[in-house]
Amino acid sequence: MCGIIGYIGKKDIAPILFQGLKRLEYRGYDSAGIATLASGFHIKKDVGKVDEIHQRLNFLDAPGTLGIAHTRWATHGGVTKENAHPHVDCEENIAVVHNGIIENYQELKRNLISLGHKFKSQTDTEVIPHLIEEMMKKGKNFTDATASALKSLEGSYAVLILNKNERKLFAARKGSPLVLGISDSGYFAASDIPAFLEYTKNVVYLHDYDLAVLTDNGIKVFNLMENREVERKVDTVNWDIRQAEKGEFDHFMLKEISEQVDTIQRASQQNKELINHVVEEMKNAHGIFLVGAGSSYHACVAASYIMSKVSKLHVNVVLASEFPYYEHYLTDKTLVIAVSQSGETADVLEAVKSAKAKKSKVISLVNVVGSSLTRTSDVFLNINAGPEICVLSTKTYTSQLALFILLSYALVNKYEEGKKKLTRLWNEIYHLTSATTRTKIKELAEKLRDKEHIFLIGRGLQYATAMEAALKIKEVSYIHAEAFAGGELKHGTIALIEDGTPCIVFVSEENEKEILSNAIEIKSRGGYIIGVSPKNNEIFDFWIKVPESNNENPIVQIIPIQILAYQLAVLRGLDPDHPRNLAKSVTVK
Ligand code: M6R
Repeated sequence: MCGIIGYIGKKDIAPILFQGLKRLEYRGYDSAGIATLASGFHIKKDVGKVDEIHQRLNFLDAPGTLGIAHTRWATHGGVTKENAHPHVDCEENIAVVHNGIIENYQELKRNLISLGHKFKSQTDTEVIPHLIEEMMKKGKNFTDATASALKSLEGSYAVLILNKNERKLFAARKGSPLVLGISDSGYFAASDIPAFLEYTKNVVYLHDYDLAVLTDNGIKVFNLMENREVERKVDTVNWDIRQAEKGEFDHFMLKEISEQVDTIQRASQQNKELINHVVEEMKNAHGIFLVGAGSSYHACVAASYIMSKVSKLHVNVVLASEFPYYEHYLTDKTLVIAVSQSGETADVLEAVKSAKAKKSKVISLVNVVGSSLTRTSDVFLNINAGPEICVLSTKTYTSQLALFILLSYALVNKYEEGKKKLTRLWNEIYHLTSATTRTKIKELAEKLRDKEHIFLIGRGLQYATAMEAALKIKEVSYIHAEAFAGGELKHGTIALIEDGTPCIVFVSEENEKEILSNAIEIKSRGGYIIGVSPKNNEIFDFWIKVPESNNENPIVQIIPIQILAYQLAVLRGLDPDHPRNLAKSVTVK
């Protein structure tokens, strides 16, 4: 939703906040701002992307060694300078940046206004500095006032708070991600580790209701529910700063697509005991739900086909946002497998909450260790794809698939066979992400760049791929793309086919005849057929060669379309890393 970063220590604050904002920009990019403390506050904020605002306001000349910053994805209040963070109280003594949603802000705001407070924005966030100000007016010190203010908030928050008169940084969370970084030269707090990864790999994951006080001498964490100081363990992450940088690539999206050659291998290096434990849970469960949103949901759809075929195991696949309507089925014998790259998607966390309320077991597949999902699940498996910065899921989607493939084979005592199948994909993925493939796909993108609609069809596993491929094209190129099960076309959708309508057809050996006959139905109505297939066919107007990989088809077949979506965005003059209206983790329901 939004990204926040703060620092206290010996280093100059300006480059830390500026770099941090750029690394967090994937979380929201309609406005940004910073507040640093050096003989009073220095606040700069405006609408636009971080670099654009920097051109106008020069973030790099902000003084001091203590400060906070925010990059925004608007929820409450339009995209205006006044609504950009940081927000301050009436006397401008308290500055706050916030990620999340304060659900009771209207009531709090009304009350504060009746007490004489003057608001400058339409945001929910602005109630926080005013609440702290009000508590301090009543005689509380900064720490107690902050604790009381936070206790009165309903909804979700990750906040960083500064007081003009104290050299301290407060960091608190409930329902939104916040992680601390510990280095020799100072302390960090941010929505995500890449924001400070170049300074330290030592991190502390805060829990809900934690209020951390960061000073030059260290960190103390209090839990507002437990009303006491708590110990939080220091973890070391194995992420590398190069994973969070574009390197020689123009965009993170292309870099992350190319990384799949390694990420599939990493996803398949799992702890065998843990996999066996998950397998036992799956075998013993009375009813299994696979739950996710967006691409993670598509990985669940693909998994349901693989599990049916390889493991003969029935699973129910449900969109996270629809899951509450199935809660009547849940018992203490049900197993919910929650899938989420970020581990912070509100719909997924809500689904887990309802499962927990019925005492069902929750196992999750995540990429961000320490995220809310890893902490609320009974067990989690790390897909281990490294930081994914582009808003679109690419490498994390295929890593989720890899893990599901591994589980499907492990369910029938063929863990090693599953692992071998994934290992063998290295060559294929290397070729599919090579410059040769990219050049070929660019030719296709040139043909499709001005189209208004693209249809995609597949059967079985390839239907799941068609759904994910349509999402990739839509979200980054803004071309309307829609996926259908091949057999469904004749039940209505075929009416949409006109002369030249592009249709991407995903072919596998398993259902080659059936899907090609659907493609012929489209071709005979003037459709332009793009085959994603191991073999060429006379009905294809354009052929993308992919190896026949059976149960691994969803991995190899999506890669060329990820590249196509990327090329379409670039040709249409769009920024693939920051599609309009989207945010990397959707932490609102
Ligand atoms: O972090 P999650 O996997 O839970 O995110 C779920 C969706 O928000 C995400 O897959 C989204 O659809 C992406 N934009 C897909 O590219």
